Amino acid sequence: MFLYFKDGKEILSSIVSSQENIHHKYGGVVPEIASRMHVKAIDVIVNKAINKAKITIEKIDGVAVTRGPGLIGSLLVGFSFAKAFAWARKIPWVGVNHLEGHIYSVLLNNNPPKFPFISLLASGGHTNLYYVTSYNDFHILGQTRDDAAGESFDKVAKMLGMGYPGGAVIEKLAAKGDPCLIKFPRPLCNKNSKDSFDFSFSGLKSAVARYIQKNKNFINEQKADIAAGFQEAVLDILSLKLINAGKLKNCIDIAVTGGVAINSALAEKIKKNILNSKLKFHVPFKKLCGDNAAMIGARGYKLLEKGKLSKLKHDVFSRNRL
Ligand SMILES: Nc1ncnc2c1ncn2[C@@H]1O[C@H](COP(=O)(O)OP(=O)(O)O)[C@@H](O)[C@H]1O
Ligand SMILES: [Mg+2]
Repeated sequence: MFLYFKDGKEILSSIVSSQENIHHKYGGVVPEIASRMHVKAIDVIVNKAINKAKITIEKIDGVAVTRGPGLIGSLLVGFSFAKAFAWARKIPWVGVNHLEGHIYSVLLNNNPPKFPFISLLASGGHTNLYYVTSYNDFHILGQTRDDAAGESFDKVAKMLGMGYPGGAVIEKLAAKGDPCLIKFPRPLCNKNSKDSFDFSFSGLKSAVARYIQKNKNFINEQKADIAAGFQEAVLDILSLKLINAGKLKNCIDIAVTGGVAINSALAEKIKKNILNSKLKFHVPFKKLCGDNAAMIGARGYKLLEKGKLSKLKHDVFSRNRL
């Protein structure tokens, strides 16, 4: 994916190159295939983005690129391309933290949250709760101790034989089921953990696996209720921690970002749960929830503006905590 960005806010073009149909048959992302597909796609996507933005290469006066965390092979393709592009054009460039990009995705809203706000990043690789006090200060309040929220959607979809990626299929299936029929656990949500903003989804995943195993002869009739019960548990956990953090930090604005933020039932639940409070809920535009170049551009713009440039000797990284 790639895009051109004007004044840190106006998106001139944003192309997302998805590999979902390629990885679908393997039931998850195959890293080696992903990086090879990146090599094939990158210059095609860059050219598409330039054409769609109706600009020429000479108009580009800075480059932002994802540095990590993520799959190392895929990151290397984009990072090397951006380095070479900026070096050849003699323009500044900056490597951006993928997670900071997600936090920035909601700042591209027409009516963005005001600092300080709470941001819950719920994606395939992360479930992190941040207290965001400025464009450059992100304080982590909690994170998952095992699986990420999006990952649990993917794994439960696989258990139900619904393929990859799981978020959208589970949401669709859950809409046809009864969320109260099968009660799955909500780990780390008891009264004593009120101030704990850590998450855990692997016990919930195992509970779903056990239920499926026990009821395997009736699974086809129960799929929608299992999906609904599972989704309800995840949404309860996310909503509870986000709202508790907002109240504890005395914030007005709270937000969810990352692929799971696409889930409409999550937004509905949070809005319902804050009805009698001063909290205001924000979610990025749907196309900016999952991984996209616009959010990386938004973060990169602020870094370039501050003169925080990357160097040719800099490298990508696969893991880190903000
Ligand atoms: N409607 C949805 N409901 C819940 N989860 C979703 C939905 N749509 C996508 N997801 C989840 O979002 C994740 C992908 O988000 P993304 O931010 O691209 O993740 P990452 O950067 O960690 O790979 C996947 O785990 C996917 O299942
Ligand atoms: Mg992401």
